[in-house]
Amino acid sequence: MPALPTVKPFPEHMAIEQTDAWTLALASPSQTENFGSTIGRRLEKGAVITLVGELGSGKTTFVRGVVLGTGLNPHVVSSPTFTFIQEYIGPLMLAHVDLYRLEQSEELADTGLAEYFNGDFVVLIEWADRLPAAWLPDDYLSIQFLHTGKNARLVQVQAVGPRSRGLLQAAMSDSR
Ligand SMILES: Nc1ncnc2c1ncn2[C@@H]1O[C@H](COP(=O)(O)OP(=O)(O)OP(=O)(O)O)[C@@H](O)[C@H]1O
Ligand SMILES: [Mg+2]
Repeated sequence: MPALPTVKPFPEHMAIEQTDAWTLALASPSQTENFGSTIGRRLEKGAVITLVGELGSGKTTFVRGVVLGTGLNPHVVSSPTFTFIQEYIGPLMLAHVDLYRLEQSEELADTGLAEYFNGDFVVLIEWADRLPAAWLPDDYLSIQFLHTGKNARLVQVQAVGPRSRGLLQAAMSDSR
């Protein structure tokens, strides 16, 4: 009888790995904050993160985690409701933007937002779906928050561009 061919293990490098998307279930505010810290620890200046999701879905909680992960005191974080933009200055310079109260895109020119895209700041944008596409940089990390229950959120992260893919991969490997 001819010998059966030996089955070689599937080569590691051929494993299909999804490298530009990450879906997480977060079961408490502290899990949302920890996820933010995981991202925050890997941030470099110039990164842009868009945060999209209905009211109360965890966007600000995530930002608090990011701020903590970059080495700042997270207690300073609240929604920058009346100012549109709140700066946090520490090891990194962060701009926390909340566009909930933006009524028309023409108002954006007066917010000073454009200046934060010069590469010196990390920019985190709540209600980024209100930002016209032309305002988005070529490379950013998109995070969608879904309210799946009183104590449950589903988060879908998508890297747009190589730089954000690097950030996402680093954060994913840290959380393994
Ligand atoms: N994974 C989670 N599970 C349960 N509750 C959460 C989770 N993440 C955050 N929360 C809670 O949800 C509430 C709303 O969170 P948060 O303010 O971060 O939402 P938001 O998306 O910023 O809302 P808004 O659109 O009003 O700015 C807070 O009480 C927060 O503690
Ligand atoms: Mg908020």
